[in-house]
Amino acid sequence: MAELGMDLNRFILEEERRYPNATGSLSLALMAIESAAKIIAAHVRMAGLADILGQSGNRNVHGEEVQRLDLFSNDLMVRHLSDSGQFFALASEEMEEVLFPEKGRNGKYIIAFDPLDGSSNIDVNVNVGTIFSIHKKVKGTVEDFLVEGSAQIASGYILYGTSTIFVYTTGNGVNGFTLDPSVGLFLLSHPDIKIPKKGKIYSINESNYHNWDQRLQRYVDNLKAKGYTSRYAGAMVADVHRVLIKGGVFAYPADTKNQKGKLRLIYEASPMSFIIEQAGGKATTGNEEILKIKPSHIHEKTPVFLGSRDDIEELLLTMRGEVT
Ligand code: AHG
Ligand code: MN
Ligand code: MN
Repeated sequence: MAELGMDLNRFILEEERRYPNATGSLSLALMAIESAAKIIAAHVRMAGLADILGQSGNRNVHGEEVQRLDLFSNDLMVRHLSDSGQFFALASEEMEEVLFPEKGRNGKYIIAFDPLDGSSNIDVNVNVGTIFSIHKKVKGTVEDFLVEGSAQIASGYILYGTSTIFVYTTGNGVNGFTLDPSVGLFLLSHPDIKIPKKGKIYSINESNYHNWDQRLQRYVDNLKAKGYTSRYAGAMVADVHRVLIKGGVFAYPADTKNQKGKLRLIYEASPMSFIIEQAGGKATTGNEEILKIKPSHIHEKTPVFLGSRDDIEELLLTMRGEVT
């Protein structure tokens, strides 16, 4: 196991060395995400000052335009990922269409991302994040994004919380790196993360209770009866990170108003499911494994249940009517 405190760049390069045929392309791709994340983290920290710094119209004291943070994060990700030359195509929550960057013409990978997840939390100084999912470029068309999540080469998230943490997988376990702001390095703080087999927390927007399927209502009623507690930040990255570390279940289900829930498959559900499964947990729509869904368009939604193995198995039994 890698030593605590190891710098993320070194970790990426050491992982690469395990594959004699690796070209270094994935390492450069991950490093481009890492540098974008550091800049987004710095801007998130300044968010509360944006109005003060930008009080003269839309410009800050440096004469730069003050942008909404989710659009800023999107532009920054697009610039860094494109400039890296490693990505043939980019899909983002903030862009209707897939982008094929000029500099990525020889790129071996494609990437889908949510540049700022939980963005409504910004106004109230609560956690936000960034999510990414990397696949191989195959045909070089939009269709390359419309494949099962199990084909992901890497996925991860950055949580801008009390500290900033970078959590990712390349299909070989999950590791977390905390940003040391004094030196600007992500340092290994959570090696080989394993999700507890069973938890005591559930994370779901319970205001939708009356629009849920009866079986889901029963599942949540049973969790309460068993003494589970509820935690909900309203930012998937923060809620899933809690579940990854402490165990339990995160859900954004379908309901009578939203037949496919709210979360997007390719840049929210699928990358988070890859992380959770690599840490020993499970991810499902309630009917099928999230990583087995083949999307038909890039902004497709899906119901999501993910977390500790025992908790998700109990959910599946309840949804099948085998638990009363
Ligand atoms: P985003 O800010 O990228 O649009 O995502 C917000 C998402 C997700 O982070 C969170 O789990 C969910 O919205 C919360 O939705 P509700 O407010 O409906 O609970
Ligand atoms: Mn989101
Ligand atoms: Mn977002």
